[in-house]
Amino acid sequence: MSKKNFNVAVIGCGAIADFHMQGVLAKEECTLYAICDNATDDRLERRTKKYGPQVAVKDYRELVNDPKVDIVIIATPDKTHKEMACAFLRAGKQVLLEKPMALTVEECDEMRKVEKETGNRLMVGQVVRYNENFKRAKSFVDLGAIGELVFVESEYAHDYKGSRGYDDWRVTPEREGMIGGGCHAVDFLRWVAGNPTEVFAYSTHKYLTDWPVNDTTIAVYKFPNEVIGKVFCSIGVKRDYTMRTCLYGTEGTIIFESRGKEIKLYQVDKQGKFYTVPKIISSNPVGHNMTAEISDFVDAIIAGKPNPISSVEGASTVAVCRATVESAKLGAPVQIVYPED
Ligand SMILES: NC(=O)c1ccc[n+]([C@@H]2O[C@H](COP(=O)([O-])OP(=O)(O)OC[C@H]3O[C@@H](n4cnc5c(N)ncnc54)[C@H](O)[C@@H]3O)[C@@H](O)[C@H]2O)c1
Repeated sequence: MSKKNFNVAVIGCGAIADFHMQGVLAKEECTLYAICDNATDDRLERRTKKYGPQVAVKDYRELVNDPKVDIVIIATPDKTHKEMACAFLRAGKQVLLEKPMALTVEECDEMRKVEKETGNRLMVGQVVRYNENFKRAKSFVDLGAIGELVFVESEYAHDYKGSRGYDDWRVTPEREGMIGGGCHAVDFLRWVAGNPTEVFAYSTHKYLTDWPVNDTTIAVYKFPNEVIGKVFCSIGVKRDYTMRTCLYGTEGTIIFESRGKEIKLYQVDKQGKFYTVPKIISSNPVGHNMTAEISDFVDAIIAGKPNPISSVEGASTVAVCRATVESAKLGAPVQIVYPED
């Protein structure tokens, strides 16, 4: 695509779509051309009033066939992702899709097949990669600030009691918390330590007892280079939202929370001395930084560069999360099978 001004359509007018609409408005090269939602309440009208798109429709297929749409952001329930992403890719649109890419590995495979056939873009919005704390922690690791990784852990702790989604879409047997929410922690650990080869998990169901899925999971992973890791995921915990993260290396340790205002960096100095007082790196992370995510996607389109987060990344994170759920069900370790690049 050689043009530099893009008409963007955002599908979904729910909780996360606001961040996307604001991100589109903030990007100079983009126009928020259209929005879409099929809810029976007035959310489409409210967003139209607030953000002023030229077009507002209830049926996304009207936008599939609209030649004025260049880029589509899909921010609807997970189970709708495959159908919508494939339809827009086939119609020649560039697609930014909310995480998780899908609920199953098979759906991810289908989307990737259509992406390859059409040659259009499919980026998966693993937005943790745009959170300053996670970005800086990864850059410290890459710079060798804590030596070689030994043990990595992250968590997704978020009480879903009041977050059932429009029409209760989150409350289904297919929508495991590990896949919908735990994917953030899994994606970060994959980003920093590579693809784990094996998982062993336990799950329990004591918080959201009226939901059809386990609400709490602990999973341990074998990563490449003899790194071991752990993800704790709970969609029922009684506390404020957090993704506490610790990265332990041979020469130091990094500790932070996703929304915390500081990152603790413990290091062994050049003489090999270890100081128990950490360096405090102050920070001001943006929770749902869709503005940076959208900007990066559009810049890649303009520059003709690969997607900042490819579909194989999104699909690999789904593969790890699915294997985690399977391990908890089996009560045994599971080897993780990844999609081909
Ligand atoms: N990146 C993140 O941190 C993050 C956070 C929350 C949610 N999400 C993801 O974003 C997506 C949406 O989540 P949400 O919290 O905004 O949910 P939500 O329930 O608040 O909003 C979903 C919206 O999609 C609309 N919708 C459903 N089916 C539709 C269809 N066929 N056509 C048009 N509109 C349709 C609903 O009416 C609703 O307004 C999900 O995939 C979710 O996993 C990502």
